[in-house]
Amino acid sequence: MPTTPPGPGESPVGRSTPRVDGPRKVSGLAQYTSDFNFPGMLYAVPVEATIASGRVVKLDLDTAGKMPGVQAILHRENIGKIFRSVLGQGFDGICEERRPPFEDDVIRYYGQYIALAVADTFENAKAAADAVRVGYTREKPNVETDLKAEDEPNRLVSTFGPKERLQSQRGDADAAFANAPVKLDQTYVTPAETHNPIELHATTAIWDGSRLTLYESSQGVFNLRGVLAQMFGLPKENVQVISRFVGSGFGGKLFPWTQCPLAAAAARQLGKPVKLVLSRKMMFQSVGHRARTQQRVRLGATPDGKLVSLHHDYVYHRSMLDDHHEDCGEATAFHYSVPNLRVAFGRARRNVGATADMRGPGAVPGLYATESALNELADQLKIDPIKLRVLNEPKIDESLNLPFSSRHLLECFEIGAEKFGWSRRNPEVGSMKRDDLTLGWGMAGCTWIAARFPAEASLQLRDDGTARVACGTQDIGTGTYTILAQLASEKTGITLDKIEVALGDTSLPEGPLSGGSMVTGSLVPAVFAAADNAIKSLLTVATTTPGSPFEKRKFDDLAFERGRVFVKADDPARGVPFAHLLQLANLRLVTGNGKSDGSFGDPNAKFSTHSFGCHFVEITWQPEIARLRVSRVVTAIDAGRILNPLAGRNQIEGAVVMGIGMALFEHTSYDRETGAPINSSLADYVMAVNADAPPIDVHFLDYPDKEINQLGARGIGEIGLAGVAAAVTAAVHHATGIRVRELPVKIEDLLT
Ligand code: MOS
Repeated sequence: MPTTPPGPGESPVGRSTPRVDGPRKVSGLAQYTSDFNFPGMLYAVPVEATIASGRVVKLDLDTAGKMPGVQAILHRENIGKIFRSVLGQGFDGICEERRPPFEDDVIRYYGQYIALAVADTFENAKAAADAVRVGYTREKPNVETDLKAEDEPNRLVSTFGPKERLQSQRGDADAAFANAPVKLDQTYVTPAETHNPIELHATTAIWDGSRLTLYESSQGVFNLRGVLAQMFGLPKENVQVISRFVGSGFGGKLFPWTQCPLAAAAARQLGKPVKLVLSRKMMFQSVGHRARTQQRVRLGATPDGKLVSLHHDYVYHRSMLDDHHEDCGEATAFHYSVPNLRVAFGRARRNVGATADMRGPGAVPGLYATESALNELADQLKIDPIKLRVLNEPKIDESLNLPFSSRHLLECFEIGAEKFGWSRRNPEVGSMKRDDLTLGWGMAGCTWIAARFPAEASLQLRDDGTARVACGTQDIGTGTYTILAQLASEKTGITLDKIEVALGDTSLPEGPLSGGSMVTGSLVPAVFAAADNAIKSLLTVATTTPGSPFEKRKFDDLAFERGRVFVKADDPARGVPFAHLLQLANLRLVTGNGKSDGSFGDPNAKFSTHSFGCHFVEITWQPEIARLRVSRVVTAIDAGRILNPLAGRNQIEGAVVMGIGMALFEHTSYDRETGAPINSSLADYVMAVNADAPPIDVHFLDYPDKEINQLGARGIGEIGLAGVAAAVTAAVHHATGIRVRELPVKIEDLLT
């Protein structure tokens, strides 16, 4: 893959292309949600419940209401009507916390909003919010960490529609396990984790009559528009959502949270723009988190390592009212060849805020469990963990009975093992040393969804030789601005510096959620169709404009390449620049619109499409001082054609660092008495930072997957996180002999 930027006349696709929005970001010109200010704007600060279970019986607003600059203290009696939004309306109405704010006086989690102080400055609003006195009746919150599945029917409802608790089944897993010569039966636990994007959730709401404009840090402006239109009883076209730059989201910003309708309701009541920016503490309470999971994995195998049965039974926690599904079984049924399998789940309600998607939702905790079980089985059988996986590599997706569109997992193992030096591994625990350090080497495989969301885009060719590509999707820091420019450049031959990209606005053509690592793959066909239509318009102009050099030509005789229109039989270099033709016709621009279908969840799919990969991890262990470090990671990823290796590598490196955090540091702890997330700050919620990030060697296979789109690009991001924690814990076991089955690995786990 070329690692240099495109030269003149070269397509930027497949080349390491620096971010087109980089200069705006580093110079401070990029405006994030809380950077937008409006005349007369007010500031809102929510009052948070300090209990996790009970009722509000008294709100004493006397002091708060009289404080300087206070415009209103809004609560259940005076906030005005906020409707519920309908469940399960595609990506037009999803929200993880279904109850509108202030709907009743029941408190179901710590930090739930009870009232909203609105004032002329943020400081005055904060002081007033702090001065509100709340009387409660309290109940003991249930934040029990041991999860037992509640009694529920097989078919149940989740945020994303109906789900079967018995998720996948083939053969007779119980009988096969009972008769298996080799058995493994272990339970793996992943803790609640909190999204910590640097940009806090924020809303600025502005009403103009019955039109509502929302500036919001969002991964899905169209879904947010759908939810807010329902909550305020408005036609969708009366709501505009703008999210130009997003300081990351990790899934926490896919769907709207309650601060958004609160800001909108406050702006409606007071007739002024209202800005509401959460505190970091609120980020731990009221805007979602990755659910705690408890996953029992049972494997049956032959002595030479062929899997005969696989059970994956998992339970996760959820909030008191909501139904987010943490799909830990997402990959289990197709990842390996096994004739007998059962994947099933259960749920347990707790007094916690709503659970939500967090990078690689479901599959990331799921693969930690299943890949750890594979590693344990390999040790039990004294088989190399790669060899065990190769032995159980499926020929087709055995859960759907469909061929894979493109699966090169075995080649990932080969490349990863070679780059890492895996053949030098001595499997004996604690046997490998470097300097005075004990080394641990571990590996794991990974996989992630590959599919398209429906998408629309438009492309303009303009009389000054520039182009504009527009799509109402978002760039959450992953490079969508750059990819859109690359795609437009690929089709038009216009250089990146002459392409304007517009995104993050519901006034643009409807674009996909920034989720599931699916944006890039979804945009390719939509932008290509838009470009084709713009070019058609241009060729019509070329053949119909009086005085055009192509006036007498037939439309079909003409072609367009590298920004020039030419007669197909002639040399393209002698063509006429499109700007010249537009000037001749006195046209500012021609536009093409493009639209492409989604493939996500398609019941008629002919292929099973996923990305694959693997991680090799080295840790160093110093038992004398109980010091554990990840010292080296090699990752090999098969994600189709890589459109921008620079942005792609950056995504995988970031995801691996997050995986190190998942393995060693991250967990949200709930206080058993109050139900509060107690480590709710960047100081106390430990994440992997630069000092924890080792050299990370990323390799892409770059096989185009033509089932996904014309370029064969499947999309990158979440896959880099999947599997990392299992590779780290395998390395920890290799160095220390200790098997940690509850994340994160704590130093006390390793003290013997
Ligand atoms: Mo990702 S959790 O789909 O933003």
